Amino acid sequence: MNKFEESNKKLWNELTDVHIRSYGVDKFKKGASTLDQIQLSEIGDVRGRALLHLQCHFGLDTLSFAREGAIVTGVDFSEKSIEYANQLKEELNINARFICCNIYDLKDNLDKQFDIVYTSQGVLCWLKDLEKWAEIIYHFLKPNGIFYIMDGHPIKNTLEHTKKGKLDILYPYFHNKKPTKWDDDSPDYSDENYISKNPSYEWQWSLSDVINSLIKTGLRIQFIHEFDRLFYKHFPAMNCDENGWWYLPDYRNKIPLMFTLRAKKEGNQPHPERLTDQKRPSN
Ligand SMILES: C[S@@+](CC[C@H](N)C(=O)[O-])C[C@H]1O[C@@H](n2cnc3c(N)ncnc32)[C@H](O)[C@@H]1O
Repeated sequence: MNKFEESNKKLWNELTDVHIRSYGVDKFKKGASTLDQIQLSEIGDVRGRALLHLQCHFGLDTLSFAREGAIVTGVDFSEKSIEYANQLKEELNINARFICCNIYDLKDNLDKQFDIVYTSQGVLCWLKDLEKWAEIIYHFLKPNGIFYIMDGHPIKNTLEHTKKGKLDILYPYFHNKKPTKWDDDSPDYSDENYISKNPSYEWQWSLSDVINSLIKTGLRIQFIHEFDRLFYKHFPAMNCDENGWWYLPDYRNKIPLMFTLRAKKEGNQPHPERLTDQKRPSN
């Protein structure tokens, strides 16, 4: 664990208590699912399928998949998140396994393969190495298993919404090995009254970084979809629709804010076009 990950872990331990209050746990306890129709339809039937959830936070999505019939394992490096996930599964009597570790150490903590490896909604920016991430996904998938991700579109990380209502490009689109430190007074994404005490260190990954890291391991991309909506209020001027999606009213259908991707591990052998040594030319 490097010093940036150590610091991010502190932040996520701090935010767990905040999110336990703001994520709608009461509704979840009464049976509501946290999974949206886009994910459910794009992933397909999970009944009886072994599902590994990377960066599961305190497990609401993981436990929602269990309610859909999946056999679930959730992984997160925040001790507080995993402690609460275990508490919830006991209280609600849902069958699930939660593992507390850095996803980069998962091979030392888990010896099993899965039909589905899943990760979603605010995950890529915390990852220091996407090629290793993709190798971990490949490692934990059974032959013919699928990987699915829903995350914010990297283009949105380059933008600020000005007071005049226009989007300005303020931040780089391309990856930098050194993460960006965010330490301002912006409120938490799920509790507008909470400003975190710990900073965050975030890595930017372009869409081609994501796609190529997966191709390089031997996974076959089945689709990538881009959406003009988002799962949280990223810009202050966003409005929420009746299904819980956040839009920028002036930019509907104009720019992507979110993407989903599904990839498959085909057969027993690595993909024939496995790219081992190719590097992206610099800009
Ligand atoms: C935005 S949350 C995940 C999204 C989830 N759908 C949610 O909001 O409930 C990001 C999660 O990633 C976890 N995380 C960040 N870096 C990680 C790492 N290297 N290994 C494991 N978990 C990590 C954090 O602890 C946090 O719970």
